[in-house]
Amino acid sequence: MATPFPEILRTYIRAGYPILYVVTAEEDRAIELLAQAVSEGETSRRKLFVWSVSRGLCTADMKVVDRKTADPHRILPYLLEFNEPGLFILEDFHFFLDDRAPRSALTIRQLRDLVAPFKASRKTVVLLSSVLKIPPELEKDVTVLDLAMPDEAELAAALDETVEQMKDNPKVEINLGGDAREKIVKALHGLTRSEAENALAKVIVTRSRIDQEDVELLLSEKEQIIRKSGMLEYYATPEHFGSIGGLDELKRWLRSRGRAFSEAAREFGLPNPKGLLLVGVPGCGKSLTAKAVAAEWKMPLLKFDLGKVFGGLVGQSEENMRRATKMAEAVTPCVMWIDEIEKGLAGSRGGAGDSGVTQRVFGTLLTWMEENQKQVFTIATANDIDGLPPELLRKGRFDEVFFIDLPTPQERATILAIHLTKHHRDYRDFDIARHASASEGFSGAELEQAVVSALFLAFAEGESARLEDRHLAAAMAESRPLSQSVAGKIERLRAEARLKWRWASGVPEERSGELRDVAMAEPPPVPKKAKRVFEV
Ligand SMILES: Nc1ncnc2c1ncn2[C@@H]1O[C@H](COP(=O)(O)OP(=O)(O)O)[C@@H](O)[C@H]1O
Ligand SMILES: [Mg+2]
Repeated sequence: MATPFPEILRTYIRAGYPILYVVTAEEDRAIELLAQAVSEGETSRRKLFVWSVSRGLCTADMKVVDRKTADPHRILPYLLEFNEPGLFILEDFHFFLDDRAPRSALTIRQLRDLVAPFKASRKTVVLLSSVLKIPPELEKDVTVLDLAMPDEAELAAALDETVEQMKDNPKVEINLGGDAREKIVKALHGLTRSEAENALAKVIVTRSRIDQEDVELLLSEKEQIIRKSGMLEYYATPEHFGSIGGLDELKRWLRSRGRAFSEAAREFGLPNPKGLLLVGVPGCGKSLTAKAVAAEWKMPLLKFDLGKVFGGLVGQSEENMRRATKMAEAVTPCVMWIDEIEKGLAGSRGGAGDSGVTQRVFGTLLTWMEENQKQVFTIATANDIDGLPPELLRKGRFDEVFFIDLPTPQERATILAIHLTKHHRDYRDFDIARHASASEGFSGAELEQAVVSALFLAFAEGESARLEDRHLAAAMAESRPLSQSVAGKIERLRAEARLKWRWASGVPEERSGELRDVAMAEPPPVPKKAKRVFEV
């Protein structure tokens, strides 16, 4: 459990830090938490004051102390002379420290003049802004604190408050039975408190009720937040476990981990699942699994583009990495997907001009993964491990490394059935067993491709031609699977997998060689034509 913000503040205040800088877009919430920090204990001798350029210095209940202090050049000398202990919150003071502001040199100097006297006099200044801008002259004297997003307890409190306000309103129906409350609080995660309150208000206005069904609406609010960031993409996908042929071990593992995100699992003493690395031959379902798992767990999927992390300025890339992980933390629970991680790290072995940036950025990621206590499940894929630093494979980062091999004959049958179904064919009309044995060495992607080629072949015979076994057979005969040319590499991965990893399709020795009936996760829908709606 992270230390609550008021407690962190109290520590700094007691230790005599003269200038704190709190970065947040949630001004009201920050002031509330700052007030809590001086509400009890040793720090309570300090009174809380809030300054803004519009009102000047005010007491906690917004009574103006002195009108003249609205002048930004007067407030700091005023505080210097102030002879009571106090916590002075300056709202948006960064404007006056900016070198484009008039007489900013004076303001900066005035602020520096507070440092020594404040240390000795139970006075603390808090700069409260939504952006972090510190002139270099002040860097050493200012301590920056990030106001974390509200945690579940705080969001639950916001929900309770809303419910409390609504409970006597006969027009609003409230139903928070079962796990509705927990689900709503989870969906609110990642919103600031006022965003959460707004989102709840919006739901109430649109639906006249608070219940389980709100979750969808709340999730779409979160989507907005993610869109703003750039490094993370909110990835919408129709894939689900039913789209994956085979990989039964992996699916079983994922199903059991999916249950470990609940409150019940927490109480049981289970840690949050951290993540998974999928290694294997291209086209065998690594990315597909990453996409499907989010849907299976009903969590948002964030695709993390490592390439976008690398920014121009010194130190910026690490900062980007931190921001991205924070962003992901803000939408917990979520699945964060890093596709082809070896490519994102290609620079880490000293490309020209790289001076170790990639390595530091990657170090930031690894540390975060190891320390992450939030419900962010990282799923990374890699086609190759040659480019991967060994630290990545160490225990503690990922819960597990799975190797996805070329599909077994049984898996090939299922994959063919899935893709025939996707193209509106009933797989039972085809000799699936025959095609499965004829496609030794094909990846899932190549099997999909064969189905598509077969459709082209059939279509070329005329629009009313049916897709038949012979088309499939012909398409497969034409295809040269990639595995033929990378056989050596596949063997190396298999050898590695035998020693260290788990097999997504079960250990080879334990697989049955026989072809059973195709077992699909869901029966294929009978192909039907969409009905046209006539508005007459
Ligand atoms: N096990 C599978 N079951 C069903 N389709 C698969 C499977 N593996 C691959 N495919 C098909 O091939 C496409 C590419 O696979 P993908 O998961 O992107 O491969 P990679 O392992 O290289 O990430 C998928 O979108 C899917 O259509
Ligand atoms: Mg892929």
